[in-house]
Amino acid sequence: MLPQEFIRQKRDGKPLDPAEIKAFIAGFEGERVTEGQVAAFAMAVFFNGLERQETVALTEAMRDSGDVLDWSGIDRPIVDKHSTGGVGDNVSLMLAPIVAACGGAVPMISGRGLGHTGGTLDKMESIPGYSVTPDNALFRKVTEEIGCAIIGQTGRLAPADKRFYGIRDVTATVESIPLITASILSKKLAAGLQGLVLDVKSGSGAFMGTEGEARALAQSLVAVSNGAGLKTTALLTGMDESLASDAGNAVEVRNAVRFLTGAHRDPRLREVTLALAAEMLALVGLASDPSDGLRKAGAALDDGRAADIFGRMVHALGGPADFVERMDEHLPRADLVRPIEADVAGTVAGVDTRALGLAVVALGGGRTRPQDAVDHAVGLAGLAGLGATLEKGEPFCTVHARDEEGFRRAEEFVRRAYTFGQAPGPRPAVIDRFEG
Ligand code: URA
Repeated sequence: MLPQEFIRQKRDGKPLDPAEIKAFIAGFEGERVTEGQVAAFAMAVFFNGLERQETVALTEAMRDSGDVLDWSGIDRPIVDKHSTGGVGDNVSLMLAPIVAACGGAVPMISGRGLGHTGGTLDKMESIPGYSVTPDNALFRKVTEEIGCAIIGQTGRLAPADKRFYGIRDVTATVESIPLITASILSKKLAAGLQGLVLDVKSGSGAFMGTEGEARALAQSLVAVSNGAGLKTTALLTGMDESLASDAGNAVEVRNAVRFLTGAHRDPRLREVTLALAAEMLALVGLASDPSDGLRKAGAALDDGRAADIFGRMVHALGGPADFVERMDEHLPRADLVRPIEADVAGTVAGVDTRALGLAVVALGGGRTRPQDAVDHAVGLAGLAGLGATLEKGEPFCTVHARDEEGFRRAEEFVRRAYTFGQAPGPRPAVIDRFEG
């Protein structure tokens, strides 16, 4: 079928044949399907949606546009997590070693921060010498021998998504649940996983605007991923405040290491990290069910096995051998470290989490364009959570800034982000669970 006829079908609300979807995506190669045609198709889907089987076909076609990783020969189950992104979300840094300590292999192909959300790769690059672009042989060796490797995109994983996303980004067609589903899952299916857990965020710092939309995305991701043959569950988790009490790059790595060694664990971060680990272990048969997974994950964290694995992974990928023991000597430090103090006594009633993310960007710790460099040393530390009660003059955040100008910009965002008043009712960090 000609591309224009294929687009017309969707424009007119008629079902698409999986073979035609495959042919359309195959036409991305060599740009036989033009940029205008990709954009028109995206807009037709934006307005008319896709049926489940159409989304599965689109996801599989995008997966098959490049390489699919092959982990045969590794006798651990291959399992991973994907988060829709948030602020103070350093879960991956603890989750990968916890699951590895319980017998899983976690080849964690992560992304960079964009907009107000942080990115795991930027955090890992705070560690001197750590390489997020090892060659395939080292990536495989670290995954097999240590059990986890947190790295960036390798080879040609789902190149059709790269082109499709780039066009969606400039044609107001990103916010479509079937297109987001196919985009996220094509890359995860190409990673050759046996199990996947999705962390879909809801709240003021989340990518999806409302809880209803976040639920719809979680349901779509779980149905399509299982439909494409990958065992998948999803958790809906809260992003109405920063997940960790630190947000930035080096400050989140420090928070993660203190979490792993037991020096300090933010309670909501602990709840989300262990719940995701439990799902991963249960999905691939390393636990009989999520509650057994929770026990196993908790033990691997508390007895120090996860901290040990994190340290070994960092060293194997080029970081210092004593990173866990002496991280304060290795992590970059900001020149100006200054608290923001409460003007009046009160209780934290609301946090605009997106504004906190933007404060990190304003400090230079995030990007406004994909090609921007980030300052790993800057960030926000010791963020007060919802319901925290403060005295007048008590700090509710400490800014790590490059200079006075950066501090002032961040302070403006942080002060605007916090509302003081009536304490909100308690809300669990894990709001809901979805399975196939
Ligand atoms: N993240 C992705 O990878 N793709 C989307 O479409 C949206 C978020």
